[in-house]
Amino acid sequence: MKLDSFLNTTRSELESALQQTFNKAASATLRHAIHYSLLDGGKRLRPALVKAAAQVAGNDTPLWLVPAQALEMIHVYSLIHDDLPAMDNDDLRRGKPTNHKQFNEATAILAGDALQSEAFYLIAREQGLNDAQARAMTLALSSAAGASGMVAGQMIDLESEHQTLTLTQLADLHRLKTGALIKAALQLGAQCNATLDAALFTGLNDYGDAIGLAFQITDDILDVTSSTEVLGKPQGSDLAAEKSTYVSLLGLEGARQQANEQHQRATQALQSLNLTEESVLWQLADYVIQRNH
Ligand code: IPE
Ligand code: IPE
Ligand code: MG
Ligand code: MG
Ligand code: MG
Repeated sequence: MKLDSFLNTTRSELESALQQTFNKAASATLRHAIHYSLLDGGKRLRPALVKAAAQVAGNDTPLWLVPAQALEMIHVYSLIHDDLPAMDNDDLRRGKPTNHKQFNEATAILAGDALQSEAFYLIAREQGLNDAQARAMTLALSSAAGASGMVAGQMIDLESEHQTLTLTQLADLHRLKTGALIKAALQLGAQCNATLDAALFTGLNDYGDAIGLAFQITDDILDVTSSTEVLGKPQGSDLAAEKSTYVSLLGLEGARQQANEQHQRATQALQSLNLTEESVLWQLADYVIQRNH
């Protein structure tokens, strides 16, 4: 299957499902602020990974939409908070003013908080998951999002401004702030099948680890090589904040080489699962390092 059509279908299925969420929010301001960031925009890569992993695990039903929405909610909350003045202080996201610019800081903080709670609510209330599946998904998502995952990465990222990290420290940071949620996408997809195959789970985890790191290395590269218009977020933001990135540490060519190495690790993991270049997951690995935004 052509990747473009897979991504387009995934995006429209996901967005129709997301349209149904938060309609009963008790504050209209909060609902507007959440929908502003959640509905309209984004590559929706993590949901695509959830869907592709669910299919590889043998589940072709729309069940993937449940963990995919939950994961996208955590991702969007992380973006809203990442852009806040106290963090990266950015004014543009997905081609629009950032949430705190459009509304205000307090509203942006609360919109992120509500997205995080709703993610776990979606999993807990889902009748199509048995108790063990719901528990496994809750564990995967909470550990990837929290103090051993994305939030820890964000903390270390901020502490590392104006500093030079070693390559190992930088890889660890990138695995936490970005890799953890991407790896969770593969786990959540695999967990759509109630009888999980251990070898498949390990292979998908290895693949997720590699493309998660490759994704953030590419994000670092695009911060330097792309434009604000194409990115939909401010080009040069890392440089302005003196962030530790693959480009600041290794230069552009060095960073590209590291992204390619991770791509190779990812495709080796797929080969161990007998998946070929034709598979969606392989094409998604290509996309992760070839994308222009
Ligand atoms: C941006 O993620 C934040 C990082 C983890 C680098 P994406 O590049 O997936 O952002 P959207 O969802 O497409 O806007
Ligand atoms: C983001 O890293 C990681 C998150 C958890 C949001 P960046 O700060 O590099 O992401 P962008 O470049 O603002 O999207
Ligand atoms: Mg950041
Ligand atoms: Mg940022
Ligand atoms: Mg970035």
